[in-house]
Amino acid sequence: MLTHGNADTIAVLDFGSQYTQLIARRIREMSVYSEIFPCTHPIDEILKGGYGGIILSGGPSSVYDENAPLPPKKLFEAGVPVLGICYGMQAMGYLLGGHVVPAERAEYGRADLRLTRTEGLFAGVRPDGQHGMTVWMSHGDTVMRPPKGFTSLGSTESCPVAAMADEGRRLYAVQFHPEVAHTPQGKIILENFLEVCGVKRQWSMTSFVDASVEAIHAQVGGDRVLCALSGGVDSSVVAVLVHRAVGDQLTCVFVDNGMLRKGEAASVVRTFRDAFNINLVHVDASKRFLDALRGVTDPELKRKRIGAEFIAVFEDEARRLGEIPWLAQGTLYPDVIESGSFRGPSATIKTHHNVGGLPTRMQFKLVEPLRELFKDEVRQLGELLGLPQDIVWRQPFPGPGLAIRVLGEVTEERLGLLRAADAIVQEEVRAAGLERELWQAFAVLLPVRTVGVMGDFRTYSQVIALRAVMSQDAMTADWARLPYELLGKISNRIINEVPGVNRVVFDISSKPPSTIEWE
Ligand code: XMP
Repeated sequence: MLTHGNADTIAVLDFGSQYTQLIARRIREMSVYSEIFPCTHPIDEILKGGYGGIILSGGPSSVYDENAPLPPKKLFEAGVPVLGICYGMQAMGYLLGGHVVPAERAEYGRADLRLTRTEGLFAGVRPDGQHGMTVWMSHGDTVMRPPKGFTSLGSTESCPVAAMADEGRRLYAVQFHPEVAHTPQGKIILENFLEVCGVKRQWSMTSFVDASVEAIHAQVGGDRVLCALSGGVDSSVVAVLVHRAVGDQLTCVFVDNGMLRKGEAASVVRTFRDAFNINLVHVDASKRFLDALRGVTDPELKRKRIGAEFIAVFEDEARRLGEIPWLAQGTLYPDVIESGSFRGPSATIKTHHNVGGLPTRMQFKLVEPLRELFKDEVRQLGELLGLPQDIVWRQPFPGPGLAIRVLGEVTEERLGLLRAADAIVQEEVRAAGLERELWQAFAVLLPVRTVGVMGDFRTYSQVIALRAVMSQDAMTADWARLPYELLGKISNRIINEVPGVNRVVFDISSKPPSTIEWE
């Protein structure tokens, strides 16, 4: 739909590195659109795409592995500039006839790169290490002698050829990772590669909005579009973007499952109906969901019941709204590439998080305007589209909502209690300026009662656990070292202001082996 496969786009071939997405993001940050392909993607198709340059990512394999993913040699013969990073360099070195050895020991961490050539790929870098440039290494195999036509550009203590180039053929390779923050001048190297590729710097969020609006328009024509709005950042951005393209042809359905935080439902209605003038159907289905959860204590059963109820409510509404062929969804780039990537989906996606997905028997055609964006780009887009900060920067919130934070049975009363306690956590975390720094911070209502005293009376009341974590992607998380001052304030306020709570505890476990949520 956008600038795909033209001379101003960079293709990134994914050999399974954890940094592949970072490479694509860095390139986009330099105003050049980049696309990731699994390394198994047919190379002819990529070459036909007419990309301005190709980057080979790192990866966990050794070129000597039995099933090592090696690109066909013609990739290097097509005249397209290629930059190999880490495994990408080893593959290039090996395929083009250099001498690559399996390392006796893998090198990992900071290294000092002594440059023998400071033009071309390294033009503009300054010495910032002991002898040269500080770089981040993480590799097993090592190129001992570059292939014919290549010159070595520098070395580190344990790596005789840490970078190499055949400038005539515009083939470049680095053993280290220029895309990570630990290589402080890595950006300059990537910039230099883009220079070699001669790509125009024209990718920007504004151009993305224009191109998307046009594409959505062309895709759906005069048809109606349905969007399931949750109030989270992805579906919110989709709604506003699609609305910009097709106006009143869009109807958003907001299923209020009664498991939301304090004030959230009202804020969704205010934002989308009043501020953006979007056709919004607010379905208050709290009672249906509470009924479905009656007597349920098992976490997975809660998720299943909520998922099934969501589908039932959504289907009812869709039927009521008449014939709508299109469904707008907030699928992001990581979802797209993960499901087709070299590593396969198992590395990062948890199946139980798919609650809230729509039934396949509803035969919609999909509009997925965020398919090419990373999460932080979606936030940038949300800001550009004028969405309020509290939506754009909202912390992740699970589909089943407070139902999996009321441990044990979910009743209206217990939900109310948790909602009140959670509102205090949100207020105080925001007031302390920590909302964006923390991946998530929330309250959990435990299924136990403990003894306390209040005045002259003994109490036997509820316990609230406070959970606050730092994370990059929710796959791993560390408990946040919240200031004592803040912890004290939150605890005091909850105990004083929420009747029925006489104790607050702080969760100091990391993921793994714990999880972020308690259920
Ligand atoms: P865990 O608890 O597995 O959570 O460490 C990782 C991230 O996923 C969120 N989460 C969910 N999101 N439906 C969702 O949409 C779910 O059932 C669900 N369970 C957990 C959690 O909030 C955290 O961000």
